[in-house]
Amino acid sequence: MAPEHSGRTELPLQYFLENEYQSLIEIFHWVTNLAASVYTDTTAIVPPEAGYASTTISPNHLLAQEFLLNFKRSSLDLTVPAGVAGYFDFPARSSLTLRPHREEEDDAAGRIVKLPPYQNVNASLGVTVRARRSRRQFSDRAMPLRTLSTILYYASGVTGELPLVSEDNDLQWPSYALGSPGLAQATAASSGGGLNPVSLYLVVERVEGLTEGTYVYLPSTHSLKRLRAADEQIREEHRALGQSWGPNLDPSTVGVAVYYVYSVYENARKYGDLGLLFAAIEAGEMAAHIHLISTATNVGSSDLGGWEKVPTERFLGLDGLSKQLIHATVLGMAV
Ligand SMILES: Cc1cc2nc3c(=O)[nH]c(=O)nc-3n(C[C@H](O)[C@H](O)[C@H](O)COP(=O)(O)O)c2cc1C
Repeated sequence: MAPEHSGRTELPLQYFLENEYQSLIEIFHWVTNLAASVYTDTTAIVPPEAGYASTTISPNHLLAQEFLLNFKRSSLDLTVPAGVAGYFDFPARSSLTLRPHREEEDDAAGRIVKLPPYQNVNASLGVTVRARRSRRQFSDRAMPLRTLSTILYYASGVTGELPLVSEDNDLQWPSYALGSPGLAQATAASSGGGLNPVSLYLVVERVEGLTEGTYVYLPSTHSLKRLRAADEQIREEHRALGQSWGPNLDPSTVGVAVYYVYSVYENARKYGDLGLLFAAIEAGEMAAHIHLISTATNVGSSDLGGWEKVPTERFLGLDGLSKQLIHATVLGMAV
């Protein structure tokens, strides 16, 4: 029955679905498929670009575009080049050499799970790249701890050392150095300035010999720091967050959810806004390594874009300000 047309009108859901919904969806699709949504202000349903970017923050309704227009405004602007050059020496060394010491402090607090040595993966690179596919169905077998160790090592483990300065051309270094003088740890995936601002947080549900819970991977010591053990309620809370991942993925089948967390000031001190772009690239490089090693070790993996940012950051115990969630990948043993 149609609603009455006097005073305030109640719109029954069934009526809306039968009579209004279809035309609204058509408007929505039309607006969304415009290359530039010049009609954003005049249509009832806004396209995702305007829905995501707060219209009160961004005058052109697209924060991403504003970012791209402004992160390197002009080559006449000396701020970034001068700042980047000025970052070398003491700040870079203190930041890079202090990291292993921070990890040692965590070890002393008894929150560290030492990972078993990674396994040498001999699979052909070409075959592995061709075989990589996003997998969204997993078996209920637990992942061997050694496999998780291998995936994490090849994603962001320490694979070498890089000299920060050369002894020959920098006479000041002995008096400045903190920690190992002049040596930075080099990691499996590359990182702008070697600053490694992206950390891998894990929500572990099914890994052999690892208590269910939330962890962060510490590359310097190839270990996990336990942030929180999971009980039934915490497990359900994480699975509930997984409802936003999309209908093609059952969160209860995921063995490990990997969250890429960007520590903004780790590289923004040097690169300013450009640091955000670097962090996204670096998360992508780590993700690529994760997918390839997963493919080679019989693990299924898929990237995720559907996660809910603020609730997931809260779940992981992030402040959501200096540490921000920027990407996610789910893992489980292949079916
Ligand atoms: C940044 C990013 C976000 C993604 N988000 C999702 C997602 O939310 N859900 C999903 O099922 N797949 C997601 N994927 C996987 C893509 O759908 C997948 O890579 C694409 O369909 C190509 O398939 P292939 O990876 O098997 O080659 C995402 C991939 C990337 C790189």
